Amino acid sequence: MTSDPRISATQNGRHILITGASSGIGAALARYYARPGNHLTLWGRNTERLEKCAQEARRKGAAVTILALDLCDTQAALSAFIAADDARAVDMLILGAGLGDIRPVGALAEKAEDVLAISLVNFTTPVTLASEAAGRMAARKKGWIGLIGSVAAFHDLPVATAYSGSKAGLARFSTALHAAMTPHDVKVTLISPGYVDTAMSQRLEGARPFLVSAEKAARLIANAMEKGRAHLLFPWPFQLVRLLEAIMPRALVHRIVRSAKVVQRPQL
Ligand SMILES: NC(=O)c1ccc[n+]([C@@H]2O[C@H](COP(=O)([O-])OP(=O)(O)OC[C@H]3O[C@@H](n4cnc5c(N)ncnc54)[C@H](OP(=O)(O)O)[C@@H]3O)[C@@H](O)[C@H]2O)c1
Repeated sequence: MTSDPRISATQNGRHILITGASSGIGAALARYYARPGNHLTLWGRNTERLEKCAQEARRKGAAVTILALDLCDTQAALSAFIAADDARAVDMLILGAGLGDIRPVGALAEKAEDVLAISLVNFTTPVTLASEAAGRMAARKKGWIGLIGSVAAFHDLPVATAYSGSKAGLARFSTALHAAMTPHDVKVTLISPGYVDTAMSQRLEGARPFLVSAEKAARLIANAMEKGRAHLLFPWPFQLVRLLEAIMPRALVHRIVRSAKVVQRPQL
């Protein structure tokens, strides 16, 4: 299913590597690109969910390879990417895996070990893989790289300092890489979602304003990547929030964000 049939017609016959394909947005992207002619390389940690996603994609006619890998091991991820690209040139790399965490009520700061994992999964490993892919794709004069960040990148979130900080780093890396790769015909897109209805946001207690389904998110991402847009931020009300925050005094912004009660249920 796509909102633009002209785009879907050109999206066949590609090798598409997706990280975070065992759940949420990554799994929805795998379903989106699952069609005859495409080869999907799907990465995640949970083998059972990865295999389920792979079976669904195979039923729709795609060839699928899966790999269970912890992205906290950046060197292992880089070696796996090089092996995948050597075996079959990767046309599209979608770096969707991400780790969110909220400081528990009563804790003074986020736990150092959680911050380390968030930094590796949300920033260090994706920028390492994107850099390797960019060099290889630039030499081939063709390729698409999508980096899934978050609207959190544009806000100081006191209960998610590592998450907002890692996504801010990813955002700057992505738009800088877009600038570097444009002369080489490699399209680099930063994707900054608001709330998407996946396991990650379902853990949050309370309202999830302007919630978007994973299916709709996948369609928006695929369209933006195809067009080589530097940045997709959705849904649009979060663009207004970003603008508003940028013109408000920082001390006032901090007072508002500190007063917000954000609670996360434990991971199942
Ligand atoms: N949902 C939202 O509201 C929202 C909003 C803004 C941005 N985002 C971003 O969107 C992306 C996708 O998130 P989602 O909503 O689809 O969440 P999700 O359903 O929780 O999926 C997260 C994916 O990341 C993978 N992952 C996490 N830690 C990993 C690790 N150490 N090694 C390898 N893979 C790992 C998970 O693999 P396993 O399940 O196999 O462990 C899973 O496939 C993330 O980058 C997230 O930050 C989401």
